[in-house]
Amino acid sequence: MQNFDISFPEFVKNEGLKRWVKETVALTEPARVYFCDGSEEEYHRLCEEMVEAGTLHRLNAEKRPGSFLARSDASDVARVEDRTYVCTPEKGDAGPNNNWMDPAEMKKTLNPLLKGCMRGRTMYVIPFSMGPIGSPISQIGVEISDSAYVVVNMRIMTRMGRRVLDALGDRDFVRCLHTVGAPLEPGQKDVAWPCNKETKYITHFPEEKTIISYGSGYGGNALLGKKCFALRIASWMGKQEGWLAEHMLILGAESPEGKKTYVAAAFPSACGKTNFAMLIPPKALNGWKITTIGDDIAWIKPGKDGRLHAINPEAGYFGVAPGTSLRTNENAIRTISKNTIFTNVALTEDGDVWWEGLSDTPPERLIDWQGHEWTPAIAKDTGRKAAHPNARFTAPASQCPSVDAQWENPEGVPISAFIFGGRRGTTVPLVVEPKGWEHGVYWAATIGSETTAAAVGAVGQVRRDPFAMLPFCGYHMGDYFDHWLKIGKGVTHPPKIFGVNWFRKGADGKFMWPGYGENMRVLEWIIGRVNGTAKGVDTEIGLVPEFGDLNWSGLNLGEERFRAVSKIDREEWSQELRLQSELIERLRDRLPKRFVEIHHTLQSRFEGPAQTSPGARA
Ligand code: OXD
Ligand code: MN
Repeated sequence: MQNFDISFPEFVKNEGLKRWVKETVALTEPARVYFCDGSEEEYHRLCEEMVEAGTLHRLNAEKRPGSFLARSDASDVARVEDRTYVCTPEKGDAGPNNNWMDPAEMKKTLNPLLKGCMRGRTMYVIPFSMGPIGSPISQIGVEISDSAYVVVNMRIMTRMGRRVLDALGDRDFVRCLHTVGAPLEPGQKDVAWPCNKETKYITHFPEEKTIISYGSGYGGNALLGKKCFALRIASWMGKQEGWLAEHMLILGAESPEGKKTYVAAAFPSACGKTNFAMLIPPKALNGWKITTIGDDIAWIKPGKDGRLHAINPEAGYFGVAPGTSLRTNENAIRTISKNTIFTNVALTEDGDVWWEGLSDTPPERLIDWQGHEWTPAIAKDTGRKAAHPNARFTAPASQCPSVDAQWENPEGVPISAFIFGGRRGTTVPLVVEPKGWEHGVYWAATIGSETTAAAVGAVGQVRRDPFAMLPFCGYHMGDYFDHWLKIGKGVTHPPKIFGVNWFRKGADGKFMWPGYGENMRVLEWIIGRVNGTAKGVDTEIGLVPEFGDLNWSGLNLGEERFRAVSKIDREEWSQELRLQSELIERLRDRLPKRFVEIHHTLQSRFEGPAQTSPGARA
């Protein structure tokens, strides 16, 4: 054990925190302890130290003021789902959707790894609030980490520092322990991105409201406020307390008449949530305006008015860089114009950043995300990308030009519609409104999506990703579906539920729907449905718009293409429902009975000959 007295600054008064810090020092044996106050001075000092250590590279201050580039170890580039555990006393409570280990067993595994794991390093104590400080929907956590990169990212992604401890008082908090798992022996030189190449554990103890993360310094593995707390632990808390923690963006849509409607939408990782949250509608749509509350996570509680109210628990965006451009997301590009930390993007000769999709023509010469020389010719020969496909930017939400005036409202905003989408080349139509809350919940529960680079593993395979929460739900998915059914029944004005698919492909393998800003046309229809003004036609899976039901001004998509992108193919849907049976079988021990009934009803609709009439207009 290191031999020093911990001197607690005057703003650290919480006795539980002091005890936990002392225990953690004894276990992890850091060289020193630092309590983060969250000040700007502290942020700049830590960034400077990391520049000196080679962890951060300062970008050209004229092109990208206050911004830095970090390059991770090549083995530490994404969330590690197969190393992520939910440790409940009963295995059944974690469900088949989570890796499980008994809490005592997991601690037995972790303790030898944690023993001395911070040797030679600084232990940072990072108090943070998920959600505006003082909001009745917010929650407080403290992350202990041996990574300064984590500290500066947490300062962007959360409300962080002494004001959080002032608000916490003597109350309990969520304990988040993080280590890169790379102790330094005396005299050993550090590397730019310390991590443990062999061993990683991202573990959750919901009943103790504790997270322990070992071995990775990257994104959701290390910034523990995000996926670990705001989704896995918070979903568990929400189940106990009657609220929802969801993998959803929240946006406001202001109609040409000035009426604001708030919508929350769930898509799997790297399927365009940030783009949708910051959408700029085509000019031809007569003055629709989109404002952004959040791009990744929503905490949602029933309000006294019988509606569901949502906050964004985060204070920044940890967005996927590749594919982000002035064309696909101008608001994101403007958000990241300054004070941004980039991770695993390429460096230009003039000290700025680049990634695939930022411009049509790549610069002639770059340093790639691993620090090697990169040219278009090298890329052609080797297939090497300049930026890692899961390269990220961390930027303050307050810098977003489309940020909603209510984004820090402690009461949240009332949600009128939930939208669920996946990445599907076939089968799933552009937009559908399942009939009523239960069918909507069934739809959300059974969405499939092609996997992306946001998690380690094969890319492009369809997997069931219920509510886009498969990697993030902190308990049994069957119980989670049941919770959703109950939440909707418990409020007088539940939001309407919709399914969308921006990613359908034609026979040529190309996307059939233009996406991005043009998604406003679908959103306009959805809001029309909420307000009772838009029409559609009944189908086996719910209500869909006909060509004339969408606003086409300024876009010449053509009716034939619209039909193709909206097609409900009986063969494909029979197959889809067979695939959904696998999910139902997997979760059967805790699946709400209503789900099996809905599944059978849908199957029966696709058996036998096709309906001759397209269904009723509504
Ligand atoms: C994310 C993810 O980082 O979903 O938001 O992977
Ligand atoms: Mn996400």
